[in-house]
Amino acid sequence: MTAAAIAARGLGKDFGSIRALDALDLEVREGEFFGFLGPNGAGKTTTVHILATLLAPSRGAASVAGYDIVREDLQVRRGIGLVFQETTLDRDLTVAENLRFAARLWSIPGRAAASRIEYLLRQFALLERRGDPVRTLSGGMRRALDIARGILHEPRVLFLDEPTAGLDPRARRGLWEVVSGLRQSLGLTVFLTTHYVEEAEPCDRVAVLDRGRLVALGPPAELKREAAVSSLEGVFLARTGHPLAEAGAS
Ligand SMILES: Nc1ncnc2c1ncn2[C@@H]1O[C@H](COP(=O)(O)OP(=O)(O)O)[C@@H](O)[C@H]1O
Ligand SMILES: [Mg+2]
Repeated sequence: MTAAAIAARGLGKDFGSIRALDALDLEVREGEFFGFLGPNGAGKTTTVHILATLLAPSRGAASVAGYDIVREDLQVRRGIGLVFQETTLDRDLTVAENLRFAARLWSIPGRAAASRIEYLLRQFALLERRGDPVRTLSGGMRRALDIARGILHEPRVLFLDEPTAGLDPRARRGLWEVVSGLRQSLGLTVFLTTHYVEEAEPCDRVAVLDRGRLVALGPPAELKREAAVSSLEGVFLARTGHPLAEAGAS
C-alpha cells in the first residue's frame, strides 16, 4: 500500500525475446498530470496495460490507486479509468446507449447513472448528439465520448493512451480543456502517454521512455534545464543519442 496514485518497482515485460519494458521505477502522485513520452514501440501501451491489470508483468511490482496490480486487480480496476489507444465504442449504439451500457457494466444504479451521464454529456458538449449513433460523430467527439465513458465510474486515476492521435488541432484543444476541468473538479490523477512533445509540455512531470527504458524523469522545465536544451525533443536526443521522431518505426 502506498499514498502514491501509481508506484512501480522494477516493472518489466517480455514478449518472447522482445524486452518491451525493462525495469521501470516510477511514482505518480495523487492529482498529478503525468506524461509518459516516447516514440512508437517504446513500451508505453505495454506499461499502461500492465498498470491497468490487462497484462501480467514479467517482473517487478506495482500499485495503482493504493492496490497491488497482481494481488488486488479487481480493486485496481474499480479505481481506474482507461481510454485505449484505439476507440472501443460500439459504433452502432447511440452516444447515450454507449454510456448506459458502461454504467450497467460498472453496476452504477439507474438514477445515479442517468444524472452522471447527463453531466458528462454536457461537460463534453455531446448533449445534442446523445441520440445519434457513434458512427455519425467526428473523431474529436468520439474521443471525448471515450473519455466520458472512461470516467463514468468516477475513477481516481485515468489512463489516456495516446488520446489525441488522429485528431485535428481544434478537437485536441477541446479535449485538453475537458481533461484539465476534470482534474480541477475531481482531483483526478492523469497518466497520459504520447509521442508528441507539445502534449508532454503542460504535464507536471514527464517520464521519457525509449526502447523499454526510462531515460529521463522530472518536470519538463527541469529536464530541459538539466540537458541545456530548449525542447523535450532536445532532452530525448541528449539522453538517447537519437531523435524522438525517427527512433521508432511508425
Ligand atoms: N502482444 C505483443 N506481442 C509481441 N510483441 C509486442 C506485443 N505488444 C507489444 N509488443 C512489442 O513491445 C514493444 C513495445 O510496444 P508498445 O508497448 O505497444 O509501445 P508503444 O505503445 O510505446 O508504441 C514493441 O516492440 C512491440 O512490438
Ligand atoms: Mg502505444
